[in-house]
Amino acid sequence: MLRYESVGMRYADGTTALNSVSLQVPRGQFCVILGASGAGKSTLLRMANGLTAPTQGQVWVDGTQVEPATLRTVRPRIGMVHQQFNLVSRATVATNILSGALPALPAWRAYLLRFPAGLRERACQLAREVGLQPEHLRRRVSDLSGGQQQRVGIARAFMLAPALLLADEPVASLDPRISRDILTLLRDQARERGATVLCSLHQVDLAREFADRIVALRQGSMVFDGPASAFDEATAKALYQAGDPAAPREAGSSIAELPGDGRRLAAQAQPALLSLGGAR
Ligand SMILES: Nc1ncnc2c1ncn2[C@@H]1O[C@H](COP(=O)(O)OP(=O)(O)OP(=O)(O)O)[C@@H](O)[C@H]1O
Ligand SMILES: [Mg+2]
Repeated sequence: MLRYESVGMRYADGTTALNSVSLQVPRGQFCVILGASGAGKSTLLRMANGLTAPTQGQVWVDGTQVEPATLRTVRPRIGMVHQQFNLVSRATVATNILSGALPALPAWRAYLLRFPAGLRERACQLAREVGLQPEHLRRRVSDLSGGQQQRVGIARAFMLAPALLLADEPVASLDPRISRDILTLLRDQARERGATVLCSLHQVDLAREFADRIVALRQGSMVFDGPASAFDEATAKALYQAGDPAAPREAGSSIAELPGDGRRLAAQAQPALLSLGGAR
């Protein structure tokens, strides 16, 4: 469904954010990306909908390569949920949810925010499904709690019934109980629709609880890929302790170059890397 082929990212200032990452996420899978701050999680996610273009390799969504010429066809099939919700806080809940349909509207409708009746009905239904009340629809987003705002973010992301949902640390700004509610909602909404989810998280316990599969990045390289159940305490410790994630990285660093615990982590990861693969 989603396929990364040896993708690399070197930003203009010379920072290497990703090193030749290859990954295939089959349809319907809930795949969590773990990694310390700066590991490359957002960069990887943003490549799937073309917000960031790889400087090496290719990204494919449902058989279409993500590149400038295909963004208009690819983007409506992808929803995105953000850590800071990325809502228009002065606009109403209804307008924010409806805005998820903008990529599929003709320019004049998008410009005038004229949404067809079918989309308005869909927005109301999604609002209900994510647990918002009818009276919330006319409320400004800025008047909602963080958890409610992320419910709006999720409803917006599902407006176009996306085949792929990208969630970049969707619960990093929420407390643990609300985080669980939001991830449950995200998982259930995706499951009902058979949507594939690529979700970055900081919390290992949540990743283990919600993911079908965990992919771990360290300094731009993939160091673990396997079922959530295989990501044990030792693996987590190695991921977050191996080396200094804030240290500047060299282009071309690889699993083999990881020091100490990192090398053990990579050794553990290899069988998982080999045993997965699978459908697109
Ligand atoms: N536009 C940019 N220009 C230069 N470097 C960038 C840019 N965006 C990201 N980076 C760098 O690329 C690396 C990976 O960043 P990325 O945002 O993908 O990490 P992350 O794993 O999402 O981190 P976090 O958990 O803090 O969100 C970091 O070193 C970051 O500073
Ligand atoms: Mg990030």
